[in-house]
Amino acid sequence: MTDRLDLAGRHIVLGLSGGVACYKAADFARELVKAGATVQVVMTEGSQQFITPVTMQALSGRPVYTSQWDTRPAANMAHIDLSREADAIVVAPASADFIAQLAQGRAGELLALLCLARPVDRCPLLVAPAMNREMWSHPATRRNVAQIVADGAHLLGPGHGDQACGEVGDGRMLEPAELRDDLIAFFQPKVLSGRHVLVTAGPTFEAIDPVRGITNLSSGKMGFAIARAAAEAGAQVTLVAGPVSLPTPRGVRRIDVLSALQMHDAVMPLAPHHDVFVATAAVADWRPAAASERKIKKDGSGQAPAFEMTENPDILAAVARLPEAERPYCVGFAAESHDVLDNARAKRLRKGVPLLVANHGPATFGRDDNTLLLVDADGVAEMPRADKLTLARALAGAIAQRLPRP
Ligand code: C5P
Repeated sequence: MTDRLDLAGRHIVLGLSGGVACYKAADFARELVKAGATVQVVMTEGSQQFITPVTMQALSGRPVYTSQWDTRPAANMAHIDLSREADAIVVAPASADFIAQLAQGRAGELLALLCLARPVDRCPLLVAPAMNREMWSHPATRRNVAQIVADGAHLLGPGHGDQACGEVGDGRMLEPAELRDDLIAFFQPKVLSGRHVLVTAGPTFEAIDPVRGITNLSSGKMGFAIARAAAEAGAQVTLVAGPVSLPTPRGVRRIDVLSALQMHDAVMPLAPHHDVFVATAAVADWRPAAASERKIKKDGSGQAPAFEMTENPDILAAVARLPEAERPYCVGFAAESHDVLDNARAKRLRKGVPLLVANHGPATFGRDDNTLLLVDADGVAEMPRADKLTLARALAGAIAQRLPRP
């Protein structure tokens, strides 16, 4: 779901070639329009066996082009005009036959013609394959796909799963929301390209007995947004997540944990293999010293049970103490209720991290927007209230600027 208009100002030519996945292209067109793009649909003859231009016109709000002999463009050159206005051409679905046409530079239909006639350095071509798994794995398709990638096309997917033919395997077109997110990511600046980023997110859960525990109200949204923003910026991202029910951002490797100790044990061996460590998790400070193996029962005495608590390891401080050669660039978070800036400055020094991001706890937990203060050795910078993904993208940029050159 996005109401950020991530594609505002983008003009997308959406090409449909023949395949059952055309039904998903209708929804994809809607997602693009909802994200702020203008969408010009171009359909091959084959695609019109699966979905009509009327549907695509209604969803995109523009008449659909289907033929190179269309007399609407003033100079009668649809193949030139359409690609000159586009920020990208996205072919979804791209059939095996259409990919073969691209590989050979054929131009027998308007859609193939305009892909060939596009200015390759200005108008990227993104291709979302959709076909049966045997067709996808056939040597001819492998050859054609390798060729179009070598010629500069970007692949979106394909996905893996149930196919319309009843088989299961690779070749499914990505879902409309996945295609939308991949296209949004495609347009983000690749400021973290080649970097490895490790993120912790969410609360931890400290067991009292097999059915109860101590946790907190962290939603994980900020950490998940940072993981997504870092992946969009070209990084390889590992996300160590406490118990939250958020979807994993595309392209992100996720490791689920429950307790602070599990989070610590997941993070420590990974940290030396990462360039950046962003600790957004709201890690419990204490845990019950020994969780009961059995559910603790009321004993009728009216006495509440007493728990001995023990302190959890500070994961961020532990990573920040690694020897320099193994230490990623560390970014801490601080959710405060009062004296946000003073507390943030003190916390940065106490944890020994170069960058500390502070926010007002009650104003961020569970919300979709936030305000951030970036505190480093040079001073303070404020990121004004915005949705968490917008802030995360800005933070990814701020981190990239502070990293030593690779
Ligand atoms: O000390 P405090 O919990 O306020 O510090 C917050 C920062 O330290 C956050 O970046 C949080 O992810 C990290 N932290 C941690 N391990 C802990 C406690 C906090 O990594 N046990």
